[in-house]
Amino acid sequence: MQNIMVTGGAGFIGSEFARSMVEKYPNYKIVVFDKLTYAGNLDNLLPISDNPNYAFVRGDITDHDAVERALTEHQIDTIVNFAAESHVDRSILNPDAFIQTDVVGVYVLLESARKLGVNRFHHVSTDEVYGSIPDGFFREGDPLEPNSPYAASKTGGEMMVRAYNVTYGMHTSVTRASNTFGPYQYPEKIAPFFITEALDDRPLPLYGDGMQVRDWLYVGDHCDAIDTVLHKGAPGSIYNIAGEHEMHNIDLTHFILQALDKPETLIRHVADRPGHDRRYALNNDKIREELGWSQKHTFEEAMAATVEWYKKNEWWWRKIKTGEYLEFYKAQYAERLETTE
Ligand code: NAD
Ligand code: DAU
Repeated sequence: MQNIMVTGGAGFIGSEFARSMVEKYPNYKIVVFDKLTYAGNLDNLLPISDNPNYAFVRGDITDHDAVERALTEHQIDTIVNFAAESHVDRSILNPDAFIQTDVVGVYVLLESARKLGVNRFHHVSTDEVYGSIPDGFFREGDPLEPNSPYAASKTGGEMMVRAYNVTYGMHTSVTRASNTFGPYQYPEKIAPFFITEALDDRPLPLYGDGMQVRDWLYVGDHCDAIDTVLHKGAPGSIYNIAGEHEMHNIDLTHFILQALDKPETLIRHVADRPGHDRRYALNNDKIREELGWSQKHTFEEAMAATVEWYKKNEWWWRKIKTGEYLEFYKAQYAERLETTE
């Protein structure tokens, strides 16, 4: 392993992975390949932009020619695929881009890799492929029952990865992780959205009763687990990555408001998300026992540090909250917030 193409590396988790891999492995070349959709942001890669073992290529993973050119030019031997449409609410408003990137794009990457003899392929997936679980924890062999167009498209992509392992013998691996939080997360996901809205004393639209449960994983731990699987995962393997910190959405909201010293009166209960998964929860035993990975951060210290990061880095998020962002915001919240105020 020497030349790694990190697809989707200008997004939230992919950029953390690129930043950490460039520092950790000076003998590897890290090539970020990213379309720069609304969620892709070169500011996320500024800390490594001058690094000699980093390169950026703007390209679309659904474009065979662009993918093959980048693989050839940079003599890539390993692909780590983060590229995706990643937001559930957007998949409900318009599923099309999700099928293109999360299913067709994964196929194009796999087929280009097969054609050019790139045999190591790691795919970043999600706990949402399992669907919702009222109690207990999903294990890697459990059936997949995705509920949103986003989750269904991620499941489709994963199945192509499986097929390329079984049919062509490609050394693939898949990780399915919990809700991830940290710096540089696009402010449409609940944590950065609520932090940045609360900083402006704006109402926080909490869906339904706010009693849905998510398991919170720090982005640094998520990327560390991917690095572990990349180096130690067996061909065709799948690993859950849990944060082992379940919370009701209402409690997460209280945590954020307290950290910012903002009043609870900012909370607005609004209409629920259609098909809203009630609870995600993963069993972490396989990655712990087989690969010796475990989280290095506690939720409390990592979320407090994340809140501080958004307080100190307005330059990063304020310019995002304009243009396309406001169109999505209006489609998603403006009316609902007016009727509940
Ligand atoms: P993100 O939306 O922040 O970033 C996605 C990146 O992919 C962006 O840089 C975007 O420009 C790029 N991209 C989108 N379509 C592309 C295309 N066709 N070609 C090339 N690049 C394209 O997403 P994220 O939150 O960082 O998630 C990264 C991966 O991790 C996704 O595959 C997601 O499904 C998975 N995941 C996310 C979470 C989470 O909580 N955020 C949890 C588990 C798994
Ligand atoms: O579980 C992993 C998944 O986590 C990833 O695969 C996805 O890419 C990522 O977007 C995330 O999906 P969720 O739907 O769980 O994340 P989101 O931040 O959109 O919502 C988290 C919870 O908060 C969910 O129960 C919906 C609720 N919510 C969200 C928003 C944006 C609200 O109540 N109000 C909001 O405004």
